Amino acid sequence: MIYLPANSLFMRVAIIVSDHKDWTAQALLASFSAKGIDAFFLNFSDLLASIAGGQSFSCAGVDLLNLDAIVVRDLGRRGASDVAFRFEVLQALQEKGIAIINPPQAIARAANKFATSRALHDAGVATPRTAVTTSVKEAGRAVHDFKKAVSKPLFGYKGKDIVLLQDGSDLDQARLEDILESQGLVYLQEFIALDSPRDIRAFVVDGIVLGAIYRLAPPGQWISNLARGGRAAACPLTKELVELATKAASAVGAVYCGVDLLETGRGLTVIEVNATPSGKGIFEALGVDVTVAIASYVHQNCYLRGR
Ligand SMILES: Nc1ncnc2c1ncn2[C@@H]1O[C@H](COP(=O)(O)OP(=O)(O)O)[C@@H](O)[C@H]1O
Ligand SMILES: [Mg+2]
Repeated sequence: MIYLPANSLFMRVAIIVSDHKDWTAQALLASFSAKGIDAFFLNFSDLLASIAGGQSFSCAGVDLLNLDAIVVRDLGRRGASDVAFRFEVLQALQEKGIAIINPPQAIARAANKFATSRALHDAGVATPRTAVTTSVKEAGRAVHDFKKAVSKPLFGYKGKDIVLLQDGSDLDQARLEDILESQGLVYLQEFIALDSPRDIRAFVVDGIVLGAIYRLAPPGQWISNLARGGRAAACPLTKELVELATKAASAVGAVYCGVDLLETGRGLTVIEVNATPSGKGIFEALGVDVTVAIASYVHQNCYLRGR
């Protein structure tokens, strides 16, 4: 006879992560364990797909088709080919009935800042004016229109390689040309000037805003990511913030996400959505462990295959 703990659901959940020490991955593991769910880490660099008679998908010897759910903390990446491969595998697993959190379509939409801007606009969520182009001439026109523009890598994260470009500056024109030369395209967003630069990171799980923090840019800086030295402070949840953050989450199709917003003279505006966000900053600032809500969501919604 097999002994089963009273709270065991026989759910098997893989947490996809490349750094096992990652705070959010560890917190997810603890939150699943607390629910009696068998959760474990997999690193997608060990992925194998084979098509020989049938299709099989394994990672470090684990048959992925035997899982109930996969929670993506980070897919890991080296180049365009393996990112495409990893997404295709997630897509295949989803088609075969494995719950993928966040859904691969949501991760892809949030990772691509142009796709996010479009989704936000389509959903009627306030977002700064944006121009994306491969043309130096059009890029110059957009900077002229915006007066000050923020250039961001299309697949950027953690505030990396973000550049402020000012209309009329020869140096910035040369920078713009460099970006187009090296990346092939430029994503430009209207710069939102603030006296004391800060943004708001709101954390949404299953349509509920669990908390929000201000991220205050270091003195003399305007990029406020925690990874760039930003400081977290509690941010009150207003009706406007809750409405925009939940709409932004649903616009990209994310079960859980971090929504970044800026304050303007005419209310809040959403600058981006992160579908593989860290839960560490919000835990340290507010004591809110978002992984508990993620585990509850999976517990309630993803037990598809009884064993
Ligand atoms: N349009 C903007 N106007 C002013 N500051 C911005 C703007 N866009 C981004 N920033 C600043 O840069 C940071 C990083 O931008 P974001 O779009 O969130 O990209 P990332 O994916 O790198 O976090 C933001 O947290 C904010 O501090
Ligand atoms: Mg951001």
